Amino acid sequence: MKINKKAALHNLGCKVNAYETEAMQQILENAGYEIVPFTEYADVYVVNTCSVTNMADRKSRQMLHKAKKMNPDAIVVGAGCYVQTKEAEALLDDTVDIVIGNNKKHELLSMLEAYENDHGKCGNVIDINHEKQEYEEMFLERTAEHTRAFIKVQDGCNQFCSYCIIPYTRGRVRSRRPEDVEEEVKILAEEGYKEIVLTGIHLTSYGIDFKDEGIDFLTLIKRLHAIDGIERIRFGSLEPRVITETFAEELSKLPKICPHFHLSLQSGCDDTLKRMNRHYTCEECAERCAILRKYFENPAITTDVIVGFPGETDADFETTREFLEKVHFYEMHVFPYSRRAGTRADRMPDQVPEPVKKERSAVLLKLEKKMSGEYRESFLGTEQEILLEEPVTIDGEVCMTGYTKEYVKAAVRLDGRDPKMLKNTFVRGTLKEFLTEEIMLLS
Ligand code: F3S
Repeated sequence: MKINKKAALHNLGCKVNAYETEAMQQILENAGYEIVPFTEYADVYVVNTCSVTNMADRKSRQMLHKAKKMNPDAIVVGAGCYVQTKEAEALLDDTVDIVIGNNKKHELLSMLEAYENDHGKCGNVIDINHEKQEYEEMFLERTAEHTRAFIKVQDGCNQFCSYCIIPYTRGRVRSRRPEDVEEEVKILAEEGYKEIVLTGIHLTSYGIDFKDEGIDFLTLIKRLHAIDGIERIRFGSLEPRVITETFAEELSKLPKICPHFHLSLQSGCDDTLKRMNRHYTCEECAERCAILRKYFENPAITTDVIVGFPGETDADFETTREFLEKVHFYEMHVFPYSRRAGTRADRMPDQVPEPVKKERSAVLLKLEKKMSGEYRESFLGTEQEILLEEPVTIDGEVCMTGYTKEYVKAAVRLDGRDPKMLKNTFVRGTLKEFLTEEIMLLS
């Protein structure tokens, strides 16, 4: 069914938000809308907003205003975390016609219909913090990425880290029924997807609401592992505490699990971790990394680090730097601490000046470059398999690139083959040399 209307969507924020943007896009497509890029003229614009920092709020507002500028007669929908926390502000904003909070995005179509019938501004934002929420079922039949599908399996967070607003934007932990995840993954596998990445707001909490039924994260993983066509399973961010001997041992028996683990460490200094309200010590984190290295051969362990958290002294930072070097992470996402009004960290004394944060970021990025290089080098001469994703021109020659299970990027020469035919296929070979700092040659 075609309805002769165009819709454009824009996502801000995390992978979970991106999943929901794609799900909203499919709701609109199935209703007959033609989806156009966000930079083009459309009848409906949907901005799935983020509120993780003050800056994210500002960007969300900017995108909403940009949409209205492109077509003043368009219906502009503000969805997600920014409008969840700033509902009143969004409702007062002339550029926003419909406000949809979290856990209500599946109602996009009925909200659009209601708006068109009454032509009055409308909002649907629930008190996500005080009402118990069920998991909001949204469904993907395909994704924008062609080889790797991100699957949302969990929502909400009960952790209340002192710098984070997300528990207030997303509410408490709720998990997606394993049979619903299975159904989605089966459809994606039939569509040809070979790799899935399980994501959530606090993935480690998966299943805490299914305890009575004996369903936990491992149960879900095993069920997805059994699906034909899926060859690789990765995870989004995990808390170090989830890596127990049993968990790692069980995972290591599942050949589709990629030995690529992203542990959200945030700091390598216990005092800072305490102020962040993270519930582990550096020592514990190091132990968990050792467990991973016991059960997987040379696994990729990656992490997130916040630098310049309130009260972080030069000595604290040095402790973090030493710790990161000792554990030896493959990749680190380094974030200078960014304030978010309404969080405890925002009210803490001893905020670190921006130039100091910048300096500390630069130190860690340099360390990351060194550690990444060393990790990649450890694969030189080894036999690996990569899943081919996209063509890239290196030194004037078009090659096809992909990733090993450890997420090391490698390329194969085309030798007259059509890149389109190679896409989403596996190739095996030996990692021979570096074509660029980050891409190795597989032949
Ligand atoms: Fe942003 Fe909401 Fe994700 S605040 S990071 S979009 S959970």
